[in-house]
Amino acid sequence: MPLAAVILAAGQGTRMKSALPKVLHPVAGRPMIEYVLDAVRGAGADRVIVVVGYEAGAVEALLTDRVEAVRQPEQLGTGHAVLQAGPLLTGYDGDILVLCGDTPLVTAEDLLTLVRAHRGAKVAATVLTAELSKPEGYGRIIRDAGGGVTGIVEQKDAGPAELAVREVNSGIYCFAAGALFDALAELTPDNAQGEYYLTDCVRRLKEAGQGVFAVRIPVATRISGINTRVQLARVEALMRREIVERLMLSGVTVPDPSSIFIDAGVRVGRDSVVYPFTFLEGQTVVGERCRIGPGARLVDATLADGVEVQYAVVKGSSLASGVTVGPFAYIRPDCAIGEGVKVGDFVELKKSVIGPGSKVPHLSYIGDATLGENVNIGAGTITCNYDGRRKWPTRIGSRSFIGSNTNLVAPVNIGEEAVTGAGSTITRDVPDGALGVARARQENLPGWSGRQSGLIKKSFPPDE
Ligand code: UD1
Ligand code: CA
Repeated sequence: MPLAAVILAAGQGTRMKSALPKVLHPVAGRPMIEYVLDAVRGAGADRVIVVVGYEAGAVEALLTDRVEAVRQPEQLGTGHAVLQAGPLLTGYDGDILVLCGDTPLVTAEDLLTLVRAHRGAKVAATVLTAELSKPEGYGRIIRDAGGGVTGIVEQKDAGPAELAVREVNSGIYCFAAGALFDALAELTPDNAQGEYYLTDCVRRLKEAGQGVFAVRIPVATRISGINTRVQLARVEALMRREIVERLMLSGVTVPDPSSIFIDAGVRVGRDSVVYPFTFLEGQTVVGERCRIGPGARLVDATLADGVEVQYAVVKGSSLASGVTVGPFAYIRPDCAIGEGVKVGDFVELKKSVIGPGSKVPHLSYIGDATLGENVNIGAGTITCNYDGRRKWPTRIGSRSFIGSNTNLVAPVNIGEEAVTGAGSTITRDVPDGALGVARARQENLPGWSGRQSGLIKKSFPPDE
């Protein structure tokens, strides 16, 4: 039996109070609808239709080529939204999973449980439900004396007895295609919100003598819907805990799981340690035996094995094995840091290649530079890579020694095994093996301080 999925994502998400469509708000670094998409694919849906509306272009742009998109020109309710998928499904005679783009914790297994229950019961509609201690905001599942489902009542339309029901509608259903579109065609908006409710299909099918069924999800939190930013934060916390627990079970040590933030797409190798106050974001990959944090932020960074990063930010760069970074370093995008390199304190690197074994230990800015192997950069050295109009490159050959506080005015090439004198402003190339010095010679004026009365106070701490 074929399985199609319809994901509802046309609403603005009024309660989010945001210009960004709700389904594009990130949860653990990924737009929330991506998780829903993964779940339906994992459950084996062979067609996925997404109903878009508010900021349709932005949602379509994210999902291009992966799904069929259909527009709901006006957001007249969840039932009206599903109806828009009708033309794409003419003649389709399988089962249809219907779910919302705002429940990112639902898993493929949950959807499979639903589909299996639906097929086992041979009914027209099956709804996935959950038992919540605080059911506020959700539609309530109404059952008859025999326990059979008779309908779903929205919170805003519910009377006191219905409000007391704690079994809620997850917003996730499995329908027989024909029955679904028959019921949708008959919906009316006579309810508190004046909308065409998808939930009404259940009552209509029941009244028409069709079988309807409900299956309870084992872990209620997994149907958590996001309507407000408070719920967004709650779901985010649950998602992040799952991510960290998965990492710990795969061999990563995390002394304090509550103080680290790891995005869904991040990978960390075994025997690595992630210390508190650390953020691993985007497509970051961390190798084995690394020590990350405390206080590290890695964004789209690739770290090989045995790398250490503390109190530092690394973005869009790769660090080879044995690199140490920080404390207090900033590695900006497009850096390739070679094996065993030391990037020390108060160092900023940008778009640079640092060869294996090189050291940039303190107080430097290195931008648009290419360093060979085993180069030593003295404290305070900077590349002057920008002349106000464009950026220029700096090259430093292997085993060169750059004296402290050297200004390397780009474009400039320092040869191999070359040296620059401390405090030099290097504007011309330095050949292999040469010493480049570019600073005024020191002059001493004897007895000078004595002639400047009052300049040097002879007020050493008085004797007892
Ligand atoms: C809906 C259900 C409720 C259920 C809850 C589960 C209805 C009437 N209510 O309520 O029973 O407990 O989900 O989370 O179905 N959407 C459209 N077009 C529209 C309206 C909504 O595409 O015209 C989309 C939204 O973008 C969203 C989803 O449908 O992704 C659900 O809409 P939302 O307004 O969040 O419904 P709830 O009030 O949460
Ligand atoms: Ca919702």
